[in-house]
Amino acid sequence: MLILLLTNCSYLNVFVAGELFLLSSVIFLLQVVSGCPEKCRCRSSSSFVDCSQQGLVEIPSDLPPQTLTLHLQDNQIHQLPAFAFRSVPQLTTLNLSNNSLSNLAPGAFLGLQHLRVLNLTQNSLLSLESRLSHSLPQLRALDLSSNNISHLPTSLGEPWENLTIFAVQQNKLQQLHRALLESMPNVRFLFLKDNLWKCNCHLLGLKLWLEKFIFKGQ
Ligand SMILES: *[C@@H]1O[C@H](CO)[C@@H](O)[C@H](O)[C@H]1NC(C)=O
Ligand SMILES: *[C@@H]1O[C@H](CO)[C@@H](O)[C@H](O)[C@H]1NC(C)=O
Ligand SMILES: *[C@@H]1O[C@H](CO)[C@@H](O)[C@H](O)[C@H]1NC(C)=O
Ligand SMILES: *[C@@H]1O[C@H](CO)[C@@H](O)[C@H](O)[C@H]1NC(C)=O
Ligand SMILES: *[C@@H]1O[C@H](CO)[C@@H](O)[C@H](O)[C@H]1NC(C)=O
Repeated sequence: MLILLLTNCSYLNVFVAGELFLLSSVIFLLQVVSGCPEKCRCRSSSSFVDCSQQGLVEIPSDLPPQTLTLHLQDNQIHQLPAFAFRSVPQLTTLNLSNNSLSNLAPGAFLGLQHLRVLNLTQNSLLSLESRLSHSLPQLRALDLSSNNISHLPTSLGEPWENLTIFAVQQNKLQQLHRALLESMPNVRFLFLKDNLWKCNCHLLGLKLWLEKFIFKGQ
């Protein structure tokens, strides 16, 4: 099923709803017991680490290496250095919603080969680097809603094969290149509303892509 609402040209509302994407949350019951960072709460042998709402300004340095889900939402983290999550290479879900991120160092997410869900909503991001797709080959859901993004890459180079959910609602986007959408061949949920879409020929690529998307019956 697909629902498409194009109210007017300046506000493009697109909801693409399909078969509900179920995140296959494989919980590895690791026997390894290790410490929990001071401001965090750890559960399930530290595979779930909750450091939300602790006034953190940076990523805790002593995260358990077996962490699968990391909650860092509702803090004041303002920057991510390269390889910020190198100590937690198994991570599948990372929540950085409602922090103070305005830019991400190139390669901030490098090493997260298994990450499936990345929530960056409610930050102050201005742009997105195209290399993100190389860092996160397994990513299923990327939520960039409620940021300050005015530019997205024109394309990602190679296809971001596993990406199913791409959300950029409530940003400052004026255009979206068709090549970018084409580099997400399996996207099923696209959240685009509340941007500054310019009703000119630059938006034509999006229109053409959407027509093909609908035609494919996704
Ligand atoms: C965002 O996080 C702050 C704490 O840093 C909290 O006070 C505030 O309620 C959060 N906002 C939302 C919308 O959750
Ligand atoms: C991330 O945190 C926000 C705010 O607490 C919450 O609404 C959302 O469900 C979380 N998402 C994930 C994937 O954990
Ligand atoms: C990200 O967090 C927001 C709340 O800040 C929530 O509404 C949204 O559903 C989350 N996105 C994903 C993909 O979990
Ligand atoms: C968004 O960016 C503009 C300049 O590009 C800046 O003036 C404004 O403070 C930013 N807003 C937020 C919420 O970061
Ligand atoms: C997409 O996910 C599948 C299943 O987890 C994995 O085998 C495949 O390598 C991923 N694709 C890429 C480009 O990494």
